[in-house]
Order: sequence, then structure tokens, then C-alpha cells
Amino acid sequence: AHTPVVEILKGKHSVGDRVVVKGWVRTRRDSKAGLSFIALHDGSCFDPVQVIALSNLNNYADVQKLTTGCSIAVTGTVKASEGQGQALEIEADGIDVLGWVENPDTYPMAAKRHSIEFLREHAHLRPRTNVIGAVARIRNCLSHAIHRFFHEQGYFWISTPIVTASDCEGAGEMFRVSTLDMLNVPRDDEGRVDYSQDFFGKEAFLTVSGQLNVETYACALSKVYTFGPTFRAENSNTSRHLAEFWMIEPEVAFADLSDVAQLAEDMLKYVFKAVLAERPDDMAFFAERINKDAISRLEKVIEQDFVRMDYTDAIEILKKSGKQFEFPVEWGVDLSSEHERYLAEEHVGAPIIMQNYPKDIKAFYMRINDDGKTVAAMDILAPGIGEIIGGSQREERLDVFDSRLEEMGLNKEDYSWYRDLRRYGTVPHSGFGLGFERLVAYVTGMQNVRDVIPFPRTPGNAAY
Ligand code: 4AD
Ligand code: MG
Repeated sequence: AHTPVVEILKGKHSVGDRVVVKGWVRTRRDSKAGLSFIALHDGSCFDPVQVIALSNLNNYADVQKLTTGCSIAVTGTVKASEGQGQALEIEADGIDVLGWVENPDTYPMAAKRHSIEFLREHAHLRPRTNVIGAVARIRNCLSHAIHRFFHEQGYFWISTPIVTASDCEGAGEMFRVSTLDMLNVPRDDEGRVDYSQDFFGKEAFLTVSGQLNVETYACALSKVYTFGPTFRAENSNTSRHLAEFWMIEPEVAFADLSDVAQLAEDMLKYVFKAVLAERPDDMAFFAERINKDAISRLEKVIEQDFVRMDYTDAIEILKKSGKQFEFPVEWGVDLSSEHERYLAEEHVGAPIIMQNYPKDIKAFYMRINDDGKTVAAMDILAPGIGEIIGGSQREERLDVFDSRLEEMGLNKEDYSWYRDLRRYGTVPHSGFGLGFERLVAYVTGMQNVRDVIPFPRTPGNAAY
């Protein structure tokens, strides 16, 4: 058995302990005193451990050929470090080279700073870098914290399907799933492919949201959530859109919009606290390299109540801002990312819970407010990224729901099971969706969601 670097650096071993450590060489430098310093990284924490290789090692000539990226197993003794920056190091009495780097000049992850675009092109090697390694550990920490939060609050995690026939957002942004033999596709009289036969004789798509499915479980188990991959076939080439992203969607029976707004605020604060407590080394790196406010702004957000604002008031604020926006502002328009960012960054300087949007820009399932013009919807807008959460109270009144379907030109029959929830023991219920990559981007300060998911899927890119 070998010891993860994190256990050595976090003091689970004391001076004099014998250890075996395995990992990849970050850097190596030879000292005049006839020894070699190796920074050995295994990804278990932000920092590498320093390994001292004395020249009396029987393969010291090999050790001197080690370059960045080589994999090694080190056997040695834990020592108090005389160098700066670490308390403990390892004095090696054996170094096995597990894997050489074929030609050090061609190793893409040489120990220097790379542009984020360059790293994106080397998605298979980029997890070895400081930045992508730190993102991966933060992402893991956030996932666990989210599950823990809901578990502690008595929520059940429901697995919703990936392949589905329902277009939850009604935006026509679904990827088709097909079992058709492309050489033998059924065609109509005019030679067009007949997609209705797609999925073993029926149409099927990749889910855009687990909401409709998870609503059925909320209307039985009361407090539930889903956490899984979702897909959007929208041709958006922006720093906040992915074709495949992960979403956390709680759904709560007997809850109204303000209940789930509070739930969202509590959840975000909980996971921010967790990340600050559990990953201080990675967060310190983000504060140093990516966004100097990465830590302080989370600390601030934890302390404050989120600002709640009505869409109608936001429109007035935007109009009075005196700003020239690319998209003009008037009541009824959807807020664009420049509007969202102005409100969250310049006007409030903290996350905003924006509520009660015009019904015409929102999905069919949202509950109509008494004014008849707006719906009980909320978005949470975060400085630096804009919308990270979208949610609503759901229309639980069958007659109102049916008129909405009709108004939107949607087919009642397509929603028969969803309507059943309103026919058999309907209850007020509400929920929201948190875009996981937008959360990770917000927490780390990373500018582009492509760099906070291991293998980003964007228009024209499904490599790996
Ligand atoms: O606002 P959206 O579309 O809401 C829903 O899907 C609801 N059914 C959620 C619910 O009420 N259960 O998406 C929710 C969140 C957005 O706020 C955003 O953070 C993220 O999902 N999101 C995306 N993230 C990355 N790339 C995309 N293309 C995204 N589209 C939405
Ligand atoms: Mg939305």
C-alpha cells in the first residue's frame, strides 16, 4: 500500500515514518550538493510533496533523467523540511520509475503556464495541471455538499431518465435518440426521414431537465431532488452554455415560490461554507490566480441575506441605469446576460433572487400569478456569471393549466400523465434547477463553463 501525498502534507505521518508515495513528477532540480529535489504530485491535494534523492541511490543516473510527467514510486522516510513552503518532505532510499515521458520536448504539460485554450485542446492531460486539478477537487466537494445538504434536510434523491419523450422547457432544444438503421431509414412519400419511428418505433430525446419526472415523486414523497446530466441542443457558443451539463433539481410538495427561494439560498450558503472549510488550498489558488475575490465574496455571500427583487422593478432599474445595453429594455423582454450582470454586479453587488417574470417568456408549467400577466418564477443571478438557478411554483390547478396549454398551442394528450398529477390529489408544489457548471464557475472564478467540466460538449465538439 502507498500513502497519498495529502496524508503526508496534512500531518497524518510524523518525522521518521517509512512511506511509499506514488505520483507524477512536477519538477526536478539538481543541487550542487549532489542531490536532486523532486516535486511529486498525485492530485490528492493541491500541493506536491518534496522528495529528496541523494546521489547514493543505486539508480541515481536514472533519477537525474526524470522530467515533468514521469511517474515514479518513492520509498523513503518522512523528514522535517529545511526548505520553505512545506513542513515535511520525504528522503528517498528507493525510486522506481514506473513510466518515462517519451520525449520531454513534446510533453504538452511541461511545467510552465499554459493558456486555458491550449489546455482545452488537451483535455486528456489537463487534469494534471494545477488549475484543472483544483477545479476537479472543488467540483467533487460541491457535489458531495449538495447531496449532504438535501440528505440532512430529509430529501430523497430520485434518478430521473436520460432518454425521454417530454420537452420539459418546451424550447425545442432536444437531441434525438435514434435506433434507426441510417442506411434503411423509413421515409415518407416525399423522401423525408420519418423520425416518429426513432426509438424502437417511438420518438425519443435526451432530457433537457428532470423536472417533470421528479414532480411525480414530489407528489408522493413530498421532498425530492434529482442530480444528473441534462442536454440542450441549442447552438450557443458562449462562456456559460454547454450542450451537456449537470443539473440539481429539488422539487417540494406543499411549498410555494418563497419557500423554494429560501431553500435555494440556504443550499448555496451551505455549499459555499463546505467548499471554504474543506478545500482551503484549492480556494487559495483560485484567489491568487483566477479571481482575487474568490474567497472573500463567498464569505460575504454567506453572511448576507440574498436580495429579492421583482422582474417589474428590475426593468425600472435597468431603464434608469443610463446604460446602453445591446438589447433594449422594456417590460416583457427576457433579461439577457448583460442585464443580469449589471443588476447582480453593479446594482446590487451580490446574488439576486429575481421573481415574478412575464408569463410569455416562461415555460408552460409555471403558476400564473393573480395579476394574470406574470408567473411565480424565480431566477438566481450571481455576479460574474448571471443566471445560475431557474425555478418556479408549478401550476397545480388543472383548469388554469389546461388554458395555458391551449394558449401556448400545446397538446393536452402529450401531457396526460402530467395532468393526472393535477387530477388526483393535486397540491401546491415548487422547485428549481441549479446549473452545476455555472455553480462551479462561480465558486472558482473560472471564466468559462468549458473549463469546469472534464470533457465539455459544445457545438461542434464531442471529442474524447
Ligand atoms: O432555467 P432552466 O432552463 O430551468 C429548467 O430546466 C427547469 N426545468 C428547472 C427546474 O425548475 N427544475 O435551467 C436551469 C439552470 C439554469 O439556471 C442554468 O444554471 C443551467 O440550468 N443551464 C445551463 N448550464 C449550462 N449550459 C446550458 N446550456 C444551460 N442551460 C441551463
Ligand atoms: Mg432559465
